[in-house]
Amino acid sequence: MISRRVRDLGVYSEVVPYAAVSQSTVEELRPRAIILSGGPSSVYEPGAPAIGDWVLKLGLPVLGICYGHQLLAEMTGGRVERGQGEYGRTRVTVDGPDPLFDGWGREEDVWMSHSDYVASVGPGVKVLATSKDTGYIAAMKAGDKIYGVQFHPEVRHTEKGVKLIANFLFKVAKVRPTWSVEGLAEKLVEQVRSQVPREDKAIVAVSGGVDSTTAAVIAKRALGDRAVVVFINHGLLREGEAEEVLSALKSLGLNPIYIDASDRFLRALKGVTDPEQKRLVVGKVFAEVFKEVATSDSSIRWLVQGTTYPDVIESGAEAGADRIKSHHNVGGLPRDLGLRVIEPLRYLYKDEVRRLALSLGIPESIAMRHPFPGPGLAVRVIGEVTEEKLRIVRKASMIVEEELRRAGLYNSVWQAFAVVGDDKWVGVKGDRRAFGYIVTVRVVESEDGMTADWARLPYDLLQRIASRITSEVPEVVMVTYAVTTKPPSTIEPV
Ligand code: XMP
Repeated sequence: MISRRVRDLGVYSEVVPYAAVSQSTVEELRPRAIILSGGPSSVYEPGAPAIGDWVLKLGLPVLGICYGHQLLAEMTGGRVERGQGEYGRTRVTVDGPDPLFDGWGREEDVWMSHSDYVASVGPGVKVLATSKDTGYIAAMKAGDKIYGVQFHPEVRHTEKGVKLIANFLFKVAKVRPTWSVEGLAEKLVEQVRSQVPREDKAIVAVSGGVDSTTAAVIAKRALGDRAVVVFINHGLLREGEAEEVLSALKSLGLNPIYIDASDRFLRALKGVTDPEQKRLVVGKVFAEVFKEVATSDSSIRWLVQGTTYPDVIESGAEAGADRIKSHHNVGGLPRDLGLRVIEPLRYLYKDEVRRLALSLGIPESIAMRHPFPGPGLAVRVIGEVTEEKLRIVRKASMIVEEELRRAGLYNSVWQAFAVVGDDKWVGVKGDRRAFGYIVTVRVVESEDGMTADWARLPYDLLQRIASRITSEVPEVVMVTYAVTTKPPSTIEPV
């Protein structure tokens, strides 16, 4: 989130795991400023995440946030102790003018989440703000450009948080906001072109989603016919999706190899009810089918993937992130093929990929599409995946999407879909008793899928969705709306 905010302000930023950085790796990256993030440890515990004091000697501006603040306090001679803790919205008092707090009033609400606190600061370190009730040191300044804040400026509940980050970037570090994805396309195309030798081909598996399509367009521009674009239909796509994706890919000149492997996937999924098992089965069959295409041409030596930055962070490639579901690597392609992987979008967030896609001429219907999980409807059907349940989620999801589009809300939510399981409900249809499926509608708002809130849709819209589903999908008699945030729930049911 910190890195997101920085990029939103027009400044490029990268997240690097503390354990993997040294003075020389940082110097190689040539940053203009450094932010030390929060984390769950205590600075005084043995083995707690730390960074050498070279970080203070580089002459670069440093901002510590939460744990980073405590770490800086300790490194500059202060003391960190366990306190009673502050959680949630907290009032802080800013003690005097400082470039970091430009535009802040004397008292502001910030978001806190800590039990350790900075009890005292070292010699020459100035206290810039304290929290009102507890007197905790909310912000400090060690030297000209070294700052720490106990609260979380990256969280929306810190009302002037973005302002503080902007102050750090533009007033303290004096960087200019020049980062944008629009000018990036040519550079990415050039990178792919220079990586793949002339006699080699690269394969790209596309799903029709914005990430893989964008990666494929880049590969195509870079390599022409040496980019082999494959679209595998696993039979777990939405209503009409295979046809739509195919025609979009053709219109982009991608000339895809189309493989309808629906039967193979559905056979493999027969009788499988466990969520993790379903993902594994889809992943395994996908890998098999993919392998068949990839080995059919011996000059295919490269694999272009649409991996994005949250995938990189969430799948734990960056140390420190905990893995929640084994999902983000589905489409996780066989390693034993010996293909070398190219991930042109590896450093981009989803909305940056969308903007890049538009700048590449990818139509809005793909660029603005909601994310759709790799294992498709297998994770939107709870329990065994059957033809009947697939038919139900397909029709019901189509209704959800259609109604949202009609209400002009499709682009303002992160995902919107229907889910079906094995539970049933008694109903009356045409004066007759019916015992039918329960469909759950899930519509969420999110910035990157890592956390999510359910969308407060107008009642009338929910009513329209519910009545269309029960009347147009005869197997369904009850529609429910999912009103749990992530966490504690996840977005997909499986
Ligand atoms: P969860 O359900 O973990 O989902 O809250 C977070 C985001 O990830 C997508 N998702 C997946 N994407 N393969 C994918 O490629 C998967 O197995 C998978 N499971 C969830 C989900 O749609 C949401 O945007």
